[in-house]
Amino acid sequence: MIYLDHAASSWPKPPAVLEAMQECMLEYGANPGRGSHAMAVRASRTLFECRKNLARLFHIKNPNHISFALNTTMALNQAIKGFVKEGDHVVCTAIEHNSVRRPLEYLKRTKGVQVSYVRTNERGELHMDDLAEVITSATTLIVCNHSSNLLGSILPLAEIGQLAKERGARLLVDAAQTAGTLPIDVESMGIDMMAFPGHKALLGPQGTGGLYVHPDIELEPILHGGTGSQSEEIDQPTVRPDRYEAGTQNTVGIAGLNEGVKYVLEQGPEAIHKKEWELVQQIMEGLMGIDGVTVFGPELGQNKTGIVAFNVRQVDSSEVAFILDQSFQIAVRAGYHCSPLAHEMARTMERGAVRASVGCFTTPEEAEALVSAVKEIAATYR
Ligand SMILES: Cc1ncc(COP(=O)(O)O)c(C=O)c1O
Repeated sequence: MIYLDHAASSWPKPPAVLEAMQECMLEYGANPGRGSHAMAVRASRTLFECRKNLARLFHIKNPNHISFALNTTMALNQAIKGFVKEGDHVVCTAIEHNSVRRPLEYLKRTKGVQVSYVRTNERGELHMDDLAEVITSATTLIVCNHSSNLLGSILPLAEIGQLAKERGARLLVDAAQTAGTLPIDVESMGIDMMAFPGHKALLGPQGTGGLYVHPDIELEPILHGGTGSQSEEIDQPTVRPDRYEAGTQNTVGIAGLNEGVKYVLEQGPEAIHKKEWELVQQIMEGLMGIDGVTVFGPELGQNKTGIVAFNVRQVDSSEVAFILDQSFQIAVRAGYHCSPLAHEMARTMERGAVRASVGCFTTPEEAEALVSAVKEIAATYR
């Protein structure tokens, strides 16, 4: 199987990820933060080591300002529902994932929160003037992804962070498509909160992710329960990360994630991005040379993440993905990718799009195999 669905979950993982998970299960599968015996202490240490490595990667001063979550969605829900209050105005873009859009729409329905969606161009590129225009005195939060999961376009986070600061709003970033593949510096980019997955480019297993929260932001926790700390208190602890980490954490997953993050730190996100960018350029160039194939997103030569969205003639995107899977053993994703608004921008609402996404282990040969398979498919629908 040629796996080109890294934007959903990366696969395979570095061997050290599997080894660390096995070691955890075999040697110290105890509950972190809930006991003082040697196994529990070792489990707690694993969590802290992973937090420390994540903090190094994202330039976060205090690792305790990162709390673990099961995925990006859970982290986004904690950030959005924990921050936004009745009467607030929130600005986001029209290329957001449903994991941003749905919590915002929920708050719109239940709390009368106002939400503005800033349009991008059809390639998913945002104009700062359009963003600046919709911010009002009631705007408390700007939420945006770092890169579109459909189009691979990259948003200018540092400029958005600067604008948020100037206008008195906070910035929440959905780094689902960039944590591990693009350099992220929360300090210099002015990021106040950031949700990220462990199971994509950070190369950890599914069931891992996290949320960074700036020290001067107090979120209302969305989960209440045991933390192993301040047990005599009736309220959720104020101390971080416990405040946002109710219940037993995914120690085995985080043991794996820690190794994934170490791998990314060793390679460097810049080098990983360069490799992935070259692969997507190769795929785009190949696909653009095929009669009947339309490629979406930033133009050839422009900066983007490891995603190529395309369609073949008038064929339904799920049919193309099905043929790639069944006849060519190539795994891609089709449909709407949980980003219906992004399809409106790209004008692909009717049929969705096929999405091929590369990872740090993808080879140029695999990229070439995709191009020649699509060439054959396009020829049969002539
Ligand atoms: C931009 C974006 N945001 C959020 C998510 C949700 O991520 P998770 O599956 O980790 O909850 C995804 C998943 O693909 C995504 O691409």
